[in-house]
Amino acid sequence: MDLSGAIELHPGIHWVGVTDPGLRLFDDLYPTDHGTTYNAYVVKGRDKVAVVDTVKHGREEEFFAKLSRVVDPAQVDYYVVNHTEPDHSGVLAEALKRSPKATILCSQGAKNFLANQIHEPLPIRVVKEGETVDLGGRTLKFWLVPFLHWPDTIFTQLVEDGALFTCDAFGAHYCGRSIWADELPEYVPDMHFYFDSIIRPFKAQVLAAVAKVKGQRIGLILPSHGPVIRRNAHEVLERYETWSTPRQTDPTLLVLYLSPHHNTAAMAEAVAAGGAAVGGVRVLRHHVNDLPTPELRDLVEEADAFAFGIPTINKDVPKPMWEVLAQLSTVKPRGNVAALFGSYGWSGEACKLAEERLKGIGFKVPFPAVRAQFSPRPETLEQCRELGRSLAEAVRR
Ligand code: FEO
Repeated sequence: MDLSGAIELHPGIHWVGVTDPGLRLFDDLYPTDHGTTYNAYVVKGRDKVAVVDTVKHGREEEFFAKLSRVVDPAQVDYYVVNHTEPDHSGVLAEALKRSPKATILCSQGAKNFLANQIHEPLPIRVVKEGETVDLGGRTLKFWLVPFLHWPDTIFTQLVEDGALFTCDAFGAHYCGRSIWADELPEYVPDMHFYFDSIIRPFKAQVLAAVAKVKGQRIGLILPSHGPVIRRNAHEVLERYETWSTPRQTDPTLLVLYLSPHHNTAAMAEAVAAGGAAVGGVRVLRHHVNDLPTPELRDLVEEADAFAFGIPTINKDVPKPMWEVLAQLSTVKPRGNVAALFGSYGWSGEACKLAEERLKGIGFKVPFPAVRAQFSPRPETLEQCRELGRSLAEAVRR
């Protein structure tokens, strides 16, 4: 399939997105081994024309060339902004110049964000939950789905056609030989990786959004990245539901540590033993270098409290633990109580630095850190056991 031109997906619905097969890092952050696409769509009604999302800044000429093959840009009535991240709104300012009669349809949150992206008066109509816009024989209906994955996000349903434009949700960073998901079965792991990277911190919002739309007739899911879904659309909704439904586990204290010389490991054993002695709390203890990232994310999501064992190396938190602390903002744990412990040689800054990071992202650190210079003495190990007990009791409460 040739993705260099516009593609008619359904009578009156055209893909006018752009491809980026060579992209290897999205947002300077997420690996994209198979590139990506920035999807935009034209919907033609009997009376009005809408464009759903646009593309990334810098890809204007390609986008407008495709758009022009489907409709004269001057005849566009609406630009639907499902979400304002610049990979979808980057050419909006230019689009408004080429479409002088067009109105932007978006959420109130998107309106606020656009005011700080395009510094000029904009023709915006804020849409509310369930609001409809008649294109003539075709109806756009809007669903507010905040935090999928930005606060401004909406889904746009094309009611008569059973089509749902979902922006980042249900997307994938994948640029394949076809626009159709059913012709690219190998892309499903990329869809899951995309979910884990971008959507996963918002599982509760995913469940709320799917609950809103799953009773609707949906035969087409049109995301803003990657393949378009035309088969088993409801199974894809259910796939997101499954990925977002929390596993039921006992209350959990998660002990994560590094330990080059077994000193912090001994302290971790004592913390875990103290926690286990309380009873009724699942205590898990892991050296962070033994945890693959997906498993770490699962464990973090299921934890009610955390104990981080961090040795000080070069006056700092060692990099593998910084990476764990960085991961904490990409998943949503059940609880936010944390404590710190660790061995050091001569300075011992790591626990303090980690505490500042944890507090900075909303964790409570109610107990003083337990630190040991070189090998922990018996009384220090007892302090560790007491720390584990205190955390487990906090979990039980
Ligand atoms: Fe693909 Fe949140 O932008």
